[in-house]
Amino acid sequence: MIAPLNDAAVQTEGLTKIYKDFWGRDKVRALDALDLTIRRGEVFGLLGPNGSGKSTTIKLLLGLIFPTRGTASVLGRPVGDTEINSRIGFLPEESYLYRFLNGEEILRFYGKLFKIDRKTLNQRVPMLLDTVGLDAKSRKRKLREYSKGMARRIGLAQAMINNPDLILLDEPTTGLDPIGTREMKDLILSLKQQGKTVLLCSHLLADVQDVCNRITILFRGKKMVEDEVRELIQKKEITTIEARGLSDQQTEELRQFIARMGVNGVNITHPTTTLEDLFLRIVRENTPQGQSSVGSGPS
Ligand SMILES: Nc1ncnc2c1ncn2[C@@H]1O[C@H](COP(=O)(O)OP(=O)(O)OP(=O)(O)O)[C@@H](O)[C@H]1O
Ligand SMILES: [Mg+2]
Repeated sequence: MIAPLNDAAVQTEGLTKIYKDFWGRDKVRALDALDLTIRRGEVFGLLGPNGSGKSTTIKLLLGLIFPTRGTASVLGRPVGDTEINSRIGFLPEESYLYRFLNGEEILRFYGKLFKIDRKTLNQRVPMLLDTVGLDAKSRKRKLREYSKGMARRIGLAQAMINNPDLILLDEPTTGLDPIGTREMKDLILSLKQQGKTVLLCSHLLADVQDVCNRITILFRGKKMVEDEVRELIQKKEITTIEARGLSDQQTEELRQFIARMGVNGVNITHPTTTLEDLFLRIVRENTPQGQSSVGSGPS
């Protein structure tokens, strides 16, 4: 069921951010009159090329920067409400984590900042490390030894330490290999199943198309389009016919039949798999069950 709009997870009206230069003059119109409504329980994609205003939007929603104009509310309250902030999880573009702590310690550290009691942490920390696929060896290594992908995973675990209702993910697949990317997408889908709301920023359509219900495309701070992903990626002007087990003769007959119908330009081809799918299959087939695809390297 779609939640009523006044119960939106995120709502912005005319949200505008103009960065000023040193002398207070307008420098960059980073976000231009953005109207956005994200429903509770939805995985929403904010898509746009570099510099289109995605991170600016996230920072405005977190109250890290202030809007030049417009309003924003999160989980039904105006941005900046401290009680609400504790119900938000945030994965920044780059996580600056203490390099001399190990994976387990960093999660405990953030858990304490959120005043989560020790008993809950004892249960939640290993669960989160499992969820993001950091194995027993990785979680004991210092963060300065982490690979980019491992750092992204611990960043995501950190974003979930407070069991948030709304999770803001800024380019979550940066630095992840295709397996890591797939796992990140599966994780986002499992967050949705738990009833959480996710705002996912990315410049890659492939990142958002399998996980998001709806997306907005930003360009130079302006909303260009907003729709259900299904609607956006369908090329309605093209029809593909897919069939299994047709003989060459049957294929030829089908081609002639379609030509007789007066339809032009219908392409009957054999479907192809994507390189990503192929790569994923090969690695999955070669990874023993229960073992993470992320190597923790020599110890
Ligand atoms: N602190 C700042 N001061 C001045 N300009 C800024 C500042 N932060 C961002 N900008 C500018 O605002 C615009 C939007 O930046 P933003 O970081 O929101 O883009 P983005 O969509 O997240 O891009 P990317 O995909 O590269 O992360 C850019 O032109 C950027 O140069
Ligand atoms: Mg950004």
